[in-house]
Amino acid sequence: MTGSANEHHTARSDTPLSGTDPIDAVDAPSSVSRLTGQDRNDPGAVKDLTKESESYTHGHHESVLRSHRRRTAANSAAFLLPHLLSDMTLLDVGCGPGTVTVDLAERLTQGSVVGVDASDEVLESARGLADAHGTKNISFEHANAYQLPFEDDSFDVVFAHQLLQHLSDPVAALREMKRVARPGGFVAVRDADYAAMAWYPESAELTEWNMLYHEVTHAYGFQPDAGRRLASWVRDAGFDPDTIEPGASVWCYATPDDRSWWGGLWAERCTESNFAVQAKDSALADDVALEQLAQGWREWAAAPDGWFAVLNGEVLARA
Ligand SMILES: C[S@@+](CC[C@H](N)C(=O)[O-])C[C@H]1O[C@@H](n2cnc3c(N)ncnc32)[C@H](O)[C@@H]1O
Repeated sequence: MTGSANEHHTARSDTPLSGTDPIDAVDAPSSVSRLTGQDRNDPGAVKDLTKESESYTHGHHESVLRSHRRRTAANSAAFLLPHLLSDMTLLDVGCGPGTVTVDLAERLTQGSVVGVDASDEVLESARGLADAHGTKNISFEHANAYQLPFEDDSFDVVFAHQLLQHLSDPVAALREMKRVARPGGFVAVRDADYAAMAWYPESAELTEWNMLYHEVTHAYGFQPDAGRRLASWVRDAGFDPDTIEPGASVWCYATPDDRSWWGGLWAERCTESNFAVQAKDSALADDVALEQLAQGWREWAAAPDGWFAVLNGEVLARA
């Protein structure tokens, strides 16, 4: 790739930067607990994975929640829906503000749903949504994906949407999801793949944004190109390979309304969300550079022929 992984994004570069090459981990800020495969394999290394969610890249700024709140069972869990029976029990791990969770509960009319997340703030929002909908067969609990507070074999379905990309050890989380799913039950995961995102018109700022996103997430030990790796992680977690159904689906934003929403929220996320904080804490970008990226997003949103596609990997497997 043209740009160095350690490049400090201080201003618009005249050098085209490729945002599509996965970048190996760059130096993390000293306050960050980096978690690597080597650590996982080192029995002497003690890493408290339960603290890791504090490094969640996006945080829960309003611009982030504006993105998550657009999600429904239809646009985010279509691969799972044909397998649901109305009396099933379902666990949604990393449920965020709960729009998908509530939607799933409304489909499981004789069953029940539990949403868990490591953020109390976002769980409050999810509870408020369920109350507003009058959804009764749902509850939300604080829990960490690495240590789910449930007995073995508790759920018919265990689902995680856009979670594994934010974990340094997604295989450990998948093992935990498998543990709480009943034998023969479903584990369903879906994650975006940042290197596979595509857009038009070409934009140096969006290319640089994508590259910076890779640098920041790698600095904190996360894998933004999760979509393509899901099937591999599921195999590593010990699922029967014969039950693994890998697939993919796309979110596409190209209408004026969608462009305004998607471009607008990313413009704000570039300067206001935890992503901006982490980019600066990691010395990977400064305010000037982040504002340039935000301006690039606003220009993309205003382009009448603007088009953006998010490729999502998805996997359904049997516990
Ligand atoms: C990208 S959001 C996805 C939210 C929701 N699933 C959706 O698609 O709208 C990821 C969520 O995972 C949560 N999270 C991050 N690390 C976690 C962990 N270790 N355990 C539980 N939740 C975690 C974050 O707080 C955040 O709400």
